[in-house]
Amino acid sequence: MIRLGVNIDHVATVRQARRTYEPDPVAAAVLATLGGADGITVHLREDRRHIQDRDVELLRQTVNTRLNLELSVADEIVTFAVRVKPDEATLVPEKRQELTTEGGLDVAANADAVRAATGRLKAAGIVVSLFIDADIEQVDMAKAVGADAIEFHTGTYADAKGADVAEELAKLRTATAHAVQRGLHVHMGHGLNYHNVPPVVRIPGVEELNIGHAVVSRAVLVGLERAVRDMKQVMSEHFPNPKK
Ligand code: PXP
Repeated sequence: MIRLGVNIDHVATVRQARRTYEPDPVAAAVLATLGGADGITVHLREDRRHIQDRDVELLRQTVNTRLNLELSVADEIVTFAVRVKPDEATLVPEKRQELTTEGGLDVAANADAVRAATGRLKAAGIVVSLFIDADIEQVDMAKAVGADAIEFHTGTYADAKGADVAEELAKLRTATAHAVQRGLHVHMGHGLNYHNVPPVVRIPGVEELNIGHAVVSRAVLVGLERAVRDMKQVMSEHFPNPKK
């Protein structure tokens, strides 16, 4: 079976909207694990817009499946990862203004920085994955800089319409076969949801999917009715004259 890494960044996004303590991504990680998640994925961004250092530190102490930390090659973040030691580190490109990670890492154009970060993380015993587009040259560069795994960006596939869907799937299939042949573990993620995930699961060689937005979106909707019911219950228990 392919592993499911549940990305809980959005839980932290809701918390940061009020700069308060809830919802706590650490609690979300426990529930995701109870639901069957094979791992927990978080992105510690340089701007700390959602996940905070404290979250990763607590997740390191509480996640007993696999903790996958997404990070840029920035020195400060790599130093943090080396200290906290997630099971896996996924290097991603990061731009301050982006809503989410847009496109894969250009390993060829940033080979020195990626090689250096990969080396530091591996020396700390962390499995290193590079988030790249489904491109043979990027796969070869990932291997050349010493990565253990690659995560193919599935955003283009997720956004594709009509005949482009099959074309994007074919690119993912070809790039996966190439990566497996080069001895790299293959992960995928970004934009995957309950409708577009089946063909991705069927690609031979894929070991892990990282999914966030679709899972957290569904959690909000399937949990809302219960949350409102619970609030009405608290109100009705304390209303002074419930019969009037
Ligand atoms: N993998 C990587 C490397 C990502 O940056 C993200 C988004 O944070 C995901 C997977 C999950 O994408 P989504 O939230 O669209 O499921």
